[in-house]
Amino acid sequence: KVKQILESLNPEKGEIPLSLFIDREIYELELSTVFKKSWLFLGFENMVKHAGDYFTTTMGEVPVIVTRDQNNQIRVFLNFCIHKGMKLCRATQGNSEFFRCPYHGWTYSNDGKLVGVPYYEPAYVGILDLEKQGLIPVPNVKIYKGTIWASLAEKPKPFEEFMGNMKLYLDLILDMFEGNMEIYGGIHRWLLSVNWKIPLENFAGDAYHAPFTHASAVSIGLRGAYGNNVRILYPGEGHGIVSVPGGLARKAVDIDALRPFRDKLEKALEMLTQRYGEFVKNMFPFGPLNVFPNFSMHFTWNYIIFRVWHPRGPTLTQLEGGVLVFSDLPEETKRQTLRRALHEFGPAGLLEQDDAEVWSKISENSTHLREALIDPKLIYTRGLGMDVEAEKVLGKGARGRIGEYYNDVSLRGFYSTLKRYLTGGE
Ligand code: FES
Ligand code: FE
Repeated sequence: KVKQILESLNPEKGEIPLSLFIDREIYELELSTVFKKSWLFLGFENMVKHAGDYFTTTMGEVPVIVTRDQNNQIRVFLNFCIHKGMKLCRATQGNSEFFRCPYHGWTYSNDGKLVGVPYYEPAYVGILDLEKQGLIPVPNVKIYKGTIWASLAEKPKPFEEFMGNMKLYLDLILDMFEGNMEIYGGIHRWLLSVNWKIPLENFAGDAYHAPFTHASAVSIGLRGAYGNNVRILYPGEGHGIVSVPGGLARKAVDIDALRPFRDKLEKALEMLTQRYGEFVKNMFPFGPLNVFPNFSMHFTWNYIIFRVWHPRGPTLTQLEGGVLVFSDLPEETKRQTLRRALHEFGPAGLLEQDDAEVWSKISENSTHLREALIDPKLIYTRGLGMDVEAEKVLGKGARGRIGEYYNDVSLRGFYSTLKRYLTGGE
């Protein structure tokens, strides 16, 4: 069955079978290939600022703990007690030098060493060598300009290669913050009844939905309508960027408290143009973007948000996300950007709920078709063959391919990359 689905998956022709978003075997294959081999975004360095700080998250469905140990080194372990497999840490974040398992009390220091086993004497003496035991580390961790990434592969391709041209655009973002970023207002997590790939499409390249799905937001003036000037950039390697020249939602809200945030973006625009080239002016601040496979960000003149789309089942996704601010902004500015962001994105955000409604209906529909063994090919042919070198449109220094508004170039790229992983590549 998997073979059949993969045969009907022809992204270069814009053909994506519906079952890609619903089939359990495909889903499991994604976990053991895409989520096993990719470099996955785990969080920001600032989330573990001080020795002992930790947070828990997942890589695919694999639970992990990210901690800063007492020697200030950031470490990533499977959130798994080696004794009998209990989930070691059940909190989402905190500060502790130790993790103690709730089952039999085995205790690990935050550098992963097993330091305490109840009733070690006499039962384990000479049998269990504490020195040789400890938490299972995630084999590859990369701290990159304030962000934390990891890969579960034994030998992943180098981070730079995995990012490909996306590294340039990631650099723009991370250089803009200069390490000066913080999550403001905490992290939200909630479940969406949808396959993990559908939400990220909106960030990677489906600007096409906005005027319709979000028509009510436009009509009340929360958002200006997207014009025909929206461009879809495909850096390669499955990543995607929606580039909105001039940025989004500048006029919709104009309050003094947001000015310091906008000044920062303006300054960053100047700085980044000098550093990377004229093309920056034609694409910064971006709209939404997605780093393959499941890390999204979204920039507007009112706020910056991030999203991680954690797979939880063929039609279940856990969204983990928050609002990013520059740490040195005035408190009132931070508060206002948080407010703006949550108004649109978040568990009660107007735009995100528009999207979630569509997404859950897609799952429901797909399930019914599948029950009747109907598997149509979905149509990803917008602008097929019309994309050009990004430099031609954006100017010198830009990388990747770009298509005007009506273009699925980055989505075809995403699914081509996905297919590569699903068929044994990386
Ligand atoms: Fe953790 Fe036994 S499973 S101490
Ligand atoms: Fe949307």
